[in-house]
Amino acid sequence: MSRVIFAPVAASEDMLAQALSAARLPTVDLDDPGRAFFALSDDAGPIGVIGLEGTGADRLLCSLVVLPARKRRGYGGLLVARAEAHARQDVAERLHLLTQTVPDFFQSRGYRPAERASAPASIGSTAQFASLCPASAAYLVKDIA
Ligand SMILES: CC(C)(COP(=O)(O)OP(=O)(O)OC[C@H]1O[C@@H](n2cnc3c(N)ncnc32)[C@H](O)[C@@H]1OP(=O)(O)O)[C@@H](O)C(=O)NCCC(=O)NCCS
Repeated sequence: MSRVIFAPVAASEDMLAQALSAARLPTVDLDDPGRAFFALSDDAGPIGVIGLEGTGADRLLCSLVVLPARKRRGYGGLLVARAEAHARQDVAERLHLLTQTVPDFFQSRGYRPAERASAPASIGSTAQFASLCPASAAYLVKDIA
């Protein structure tokens, strides 16, 4: 395996929107303020993307995609771990997320189910919570401090 690089990626990058669209994840909020995106890549090209939203103790983890040809090799877990490390360095204490597709993936990485109504205001007011993700999406939280 060649060296893997985790680096910020601009919200305007075509690769980001294409990866999210292909995975049927939201793109309309890509340019919303307070969002940061990261890409994992190696010598063979892009592997996947992930996003963080917000400031302060509570952040939203979002926009996780591993490109189809790169799945099931640990890169999804690596993207989550690197995003957690980035948020922790930026003094975040908890990560929150909504997922319709892979709650088990996140639960096996330390995220626990919670009541959506219990989300702090800074998380509940994000576009993903307020409008983009259906009520049926699972809400999960992880303490990372
Ligand atoms: C979810 C996703 C990021 C996982 O990436 P990956 O690189 O294949 O994941 P890893 O190789 O690190 O880990 C594989 C693990 O994920 C689980 N997994 C992967 N895809 C899954 C799926 N579609 N349904 C259920 N579990 C899945 C595997 O069972 C495995 O679990 P384990 O580690 O507990 O044994 C990838 O499948 C993806 O991009 N999916 C489409 C977009 C999506 O649903 N994103 C999440 C939005 S919240």
